[in-house]
Amino acid sequence: MTQIIDGKLISTQIKDELKLEVESLKEKGVFPGLAVILVGNNSASQVYVRNKKTACEYVGIKSFSYELPEETSEAQLLELIDTLNHDDKVHGILVQLPLPKQIDENKIILSIVPEKDVDGFHPQNVGALCAGLKGFVSCTPAGVIELLKRSQVEIAGKNCVVVGRSNIVGKPVSLLLLQEHGTVTICHSKTKNLTEILKQADIVVAAVGRANMIKGSQLKEGAVVIDVGINRNEEGKLCGDVDFASCEGVASQITPVPGGVGPMTIAMLMHNCVLAAKNKLNS
Ligand code: GUN
Repeated sequence: MTQIIDGKLISTQIKDELKLEVESLKEKGVFPGLAVILVGNNSASQVYVRNKKTACEYVGIKSFSYELPEETSEAQLLELIDTLNHDDKVHGILVQLPLPKQIDENKIILSIVPEKDVDGFHPQNVGALCAGLKGFVSCTPAGVIELLKRSQVEIAGKNCVVVGRSNIVGKPVSLLLLQEHGTVTICHSKTKNLTEILKQADIVVAAVGRANMIKGSQLKEGAVVIDVGINRNEEGKLCGDVDFASCEGVASQITPVPGGVGPMTIAMLMHNCVLAAKNKLNS
């Protein structure tokens, strides 16, 4: 029997816990605030940003919304971020990626003060994760670990195989699994013997961005499968990097797409915003 890990349910539990923390912060005079910046008309980004603002409302975080036109210049965006960096009502700054081509994403990420980088993309926060120091952990990788923990999946000593090596997911999730004492292997497009490696995995994290690429026949019996992919199949239907149907009966636990990792990313963003506000209280 394969158990389905309900990311929507777990993310709601997390948001309910955060709601209480926000109430207690407000009693102490701190009103958590998140600036959400969307540049251009990317339709997927518009949906993500809307979901982030809805989650803020649910948790009690004030969201400050900035929707800028496609032709916004890098200088204009940098100027807005500079203003928000100095605004005491804003504890977190989120710039939805991807950005239009005239804007250098790395320059934008570097311009956000690390104390407000609730996405955990700034090299200072990435470095902190690498060195095991305090900092913001990026939301999707943090969500993967939280899903495993709240599904009672032991990570210590387990063979963890991460498929994908992106800065946003593959690399940080590998570091987090290592921090939890997993034995971690990172696979990517040049990996020669993927099936052989997957067959050894107790935990598989799929983050390659290729629809239904990983099949049940490649898994070890009883593996736990976390699917980070959000793709569209030939019929235009949302699907993950893992071929869900072929994994049923092989995996012990698996996340669905949608309703698995996706809602967790937003819950962890809310967690980071609350942390940013708490850090301000203690500074
Ligand atoms: N685009 C895709 N994922 C993310 C994310 O986690 N944060 C931001 N800011 N943009 C994204």
